[in-house]
Amino acid sequence: MVKVLEPLISEAKKTGWASGLGTLDVIRLEAASLGLVEVANRRGESPVTSLRPRSRDEARKNSLSAQFGKGEQPLHTDGAHLHEPPDLVVLACEKASETPTRLWIRKEGNVFFYPPEYVSHGIFLVQNGRDSFYSPAFIDGRYRYDPGCMVPCDARARKVVQFFKDAATAAVEHVWDAPGKLLVIDNRRTLHARASAVDDPERLIERVSFRLKGER
Ligand SMILES: [Fe+2]
Repeated sequence: MVKVLEPLISEAKKTGWASGLGTLDVIRLEAASLGLVEVANRRGESPVTSLRPRSRDEARKNSLSAQFGKGEQPLHTDGAHLHEPPDLVVLACEKASETPTRLWIRKEGNVFFYPPEYVSHGIFLVQNGRDSFYSPAFIDGRYRYDPGCMVPCDARARKVVQFFKDAATAAVEHVWDAPGKLLVIDNRRTLHARASAVDDPERLIERVSFRLKGER
């Protein structure tokens, strides 16, 4: 049987993300055989999430949709509100979608560049109810950033917010131009964002996230 996930993971580790064809059912089976651990976005929820454009009124508190509705999202990492966010995010689109996913990584060729020092020093309050905590946006070689749930607490953190706003101009677009496409994102080093879905209200992306064993 041709393996789908393993080559996509190794490409994503090198370049930040990788695209292929397949279903989440196959991905989950292969992930289990590779010993990857599925991560639920919220405690007690299924690790598979259906992502649809939501208006501000329909959105969950501290989510990006609560701030941005169906409009363009800012760059973010997934699971930023978790103490241990997922290492890999897999997005699947069963049908094609006109709304691209934007991707950004700081690298030249295949060499990953660390962000400016203030990104490691500015402190954010990561809002997650009783589990809220403080964190910089880059620590231990990985990003944690989601302006939906992270509030800047000092001048350097406010500079970080601008850093990621500026980074958005250098993001590249993954287009969901064929049915059954998959996108594997290295959530440690790559930020992503949905383009505006105002004209694509039926867009449906399914997501499952994983931790890689022994890579923390
Ligand atoms: Fe996301």
